[in-house]
Amino acid sequence: MTQIPENFYRYKQTDIWTNDTIPEAILNKHNTKAGVYGKILVLEGALAYTAFKDAKGEVDYKVVIKAGSHGVSAPQQWHKVEPIGDVKFFVEFYQEKPENIQKIEADFAEKFPDKKPHDELKLLLSQENFEGKKALDLGSGGGRNSLLMANNGLSVMSWDQNVEGLAETQFLADRTNLNLETEEKNLNIERVTENFDVIIATVSLQFLEKKSAHELWQSVVDHTNLGGYNLLIVPIASDDVGCEIPFSNLVPYENYLNFYENDHWKILHADNMVGHFHRRDANGNRIKSRFATIIAKKIK
Ligand SMILES: C[S@@+](CC[C@H](N)C(=O)[O-])C[C@H]1O[C@@H](n2cnc3c(N)ncnc32)[C@H](O)[C@@H]1O
Repeated sequence: MTQIPENFYRYKQTDIWTNDTIPEAILNKHNTKAGVYGKILVLEGALAYTAFKDAKGEVDYKVVIKAGSHGVSAPQQWHKVEPIGDVKFFVEFYQEKPENIQKIEADFAEKFPDKKPHDELKLLLSQENFEGKKALDLGSGGGRNSLLMANNGLSVMSWDQNVEGLAETQFLADRTNLNLETEEKNLNIERVTENFDVIIATVSLQFLEKKSAHELWQSVVDHTNLGGYNLLIVPIASDDVGCEIPFSNLVPYENYLNFYENDHWKILHADNMVGHFHRRDANGNRIKSRFATIIAKKIK
């Protein structure tokens, strides 16, 4: 099956389509744009996928994409899909990462080949030179994002309640002479009380009580320096792809956007695309949810 290269990132996702809403163009022979991979993810039912050798329509191969799996069309590949019974699916589009992001990635991978930080953090770090600035990582886990920030010159504070994750993060930072400190903190109780230039929380706020998460994030917004950045990635409540894991804090996308839709902030990136957890369901499929992903800069 066609693979999407490592140095490509997901930049767009369609709506979730059913038999009634599939655009006509997708059902007929069409091709992906130059430099773009399309990934077709089936949520329910199945799709017949036909790849053609060229625009004339000679069939190259046919496959069935079942619920929980996906198919990939290469750049400019001619193809079409047909529902097999009732189907629910969507398409994601991938393009090559810009050079400055690939550089951030390569520098980090050399030191920490096993850690895979979030692409959105690389995008944030590519905005400017962060040498000597201060960052806070809320719910830092095994430290993949804390270490990436430290590797880009930030002096990093990592907070988590998991002492093993903190110990691993500290060990890796010390071994590579990075400027990073860890503190054991319960984010249900803790609030941010000093200022930072970059504050992030990636896939951690969902574990908190709703009220704590809201108060914590308000303290983040209040204690970000002028010219500083926030990155938030968190599963959310949604009607179409509801999160199957019953986290204590699942709120709508708008609740998070509300922190940034004002004169004080410039939103550099915001989406609520469907993503997945590492955890799998009873059928072995990755558990899906919509996630809020927001990168914002404090401008006032
Ligand atoms: C899914 S992990 C994400 C880790 C990291 N941000 C990343 O993207 O790799 C969630 C983290 O949140 C932490 N966490 C959950 N509830 C917490 C709480 N009440 N106080 C502090 N940390 C908490 C967990 O210990 C875990 O490390």
